Amino acid sequence: MKNESTVLQRASTIKTEAYWMPFTHNRYLKKNPKSRILARAEGAYYTTVEGRRLFDCLSGLWCCPLGHGHPKIAEAVARQVRELDYSPAFQMGHPKIFSLAERIVELAPAGMGQVFFANSGSEAVDTALKIAVAYHRIKGEAARTRLIGRERGYHGVGLGGISVGGIAPNRKMFAPLLLQGVDHLPHTYNAAEMAFSRGQPKWGAHLAGELERLVAPHDASTIAAVIVEPMQGSGGVIVPPAGYLERLRAICDKYGILLIFDEVITGFGRLGEPFGAQRFGVTPDMITFAKIVTNGVIPMGGVIVKPAIHDAFMTGPETSVELFHGYTYSGHPVAAAAAHAALDAIREEGAFKRARDLEPVLEQAAHSLKGEPGVSDIRNIGLAAAVELEPIPAKPGLRALKVFERGLEEGMLFRFTGDTIAMAPPFISTRAEIETMIEKLRVAIRAAR
Ligand SMILES: Cc1ncc(COP(=O)(O)O)c(C=O)c1O
Repeated sequence: MKNESTVLQRASTIKTEAYWMPFTHNRYLKKNPKSRILARAEGAYYTTVEGRRLFDCLSGLWCCPLGHGHPKIAEAVARQVRELDYSPAFQMGHPKIFSLAERIVELAPAGMGQVFFANSGSEAVDTALKIAVAYHRIKGEAARTRLIGRERGYHGVGLGGISVGGIAPNRKMFAPLLLQGVDHLPHTYNAAEMAFSRGQPKWGAHLAGELERLVAPHDASTIAAVIVEPMQGSGGVIVPPAGYLERLRAICDKYGILLIFDEVITGFGRLGEPFGAQRFGVTPDMITFAKIVTNGVIPMGGVIVKPAIHDAFMTGPETSVELFHGYTYSGHPVAAAAAHAALDAIREEGAFKRARDLEPVLEQAAHSLKGEPGVSDIRNIGLAAAVELEPIPAKPGLRALKVFERGLEEGMLFRFTGDTIAMAPPFISTRAEIETMIEKLRVAIRAAR
């Protein structure tokens, strides 16, 4: 509290012109920025520069479920900066990154073997796509270059990620830069069949069969990989229909197509298991991760691969580089220290179990919003839920913006995209906090007409 007055004083002097904010309505926000500028965070709460406390309804951007300012992560980061602040990523290593890779493989579903590190989800996705194409080439199937994503999928903002992604605004401005030879599966959302489902909808497994339809005109011998989020997070918490992922796995196996799960959101506990793969009982060939691996404290991402994929590259002279790919900050020591501390905290605090225990609390509370004005759907799985609102006629997105702004007044930092409100509260939330979050959302929805 000691620096409260400094923070408020600083708020009045913030100049907003120079910062071009990502995925933000810059002009609108900058008209009244102060309610949107965060000064501090502790546990499950942020404090704005105006001194308003906000419950962190989306765990940052899905990345901080262990709470902010976690003392063990903070200490580990500080210690690492003093001990080894940077280590060249190429041709050199440091102990913590080897042991981190081992820990991540242990948490991953059985059958995964190696980890390639990046610094974000976007980099992780582009890495996985490159590995997929290169893998087939090494195996003598150089024609397997086609990539298949899914409508409404979000795989970050790299050129690979937006190509396989399926959200139009993220793609249309950059059309000439999109990769050639990409197709999309249909998304699995169908309001008529699944509105107000709790957990996995029963309808929709057959949509995985659309992969067969994409194989037919192209021939399987041209297809490298299919990439899907086990649960579509940024697309609005779209939960996979029961049996869908199993069927996708079976079709990929039938045609020798690699299956990539983008677990940037679902990795490290959001669905109550280490990965969505375990939650849904389907093991892909590669898993991309980021976000929770460091509790969002230091950027880190990566790709977990099956040994068969890794081993395919381990040929040729031992003195030659096997994969011409990597980032200056791949396996950064400070990120590695943060990740170790985050994984320690996950274990010591029983974080996956906490997420599992809170799942019915969130489900029950969220679905109590059914019947509120303009609520057209509510979806949930793990510690994630979305409330879909009917757009105000001719003003798409405005209703959710109003809910978001009223939420701020009510002490809640909701996430809105389009007319969907998404929630993924911290694993450290109490039952009462989750119930309060939903009651405040009710107030905001009623006000947003
Ligand atoms: C499934 C998925 N993949 C990739 C990304 C991109 O991650 P980043 O923003 O760290 O690049 C995200 C981000 O939300 C995501 O949800």
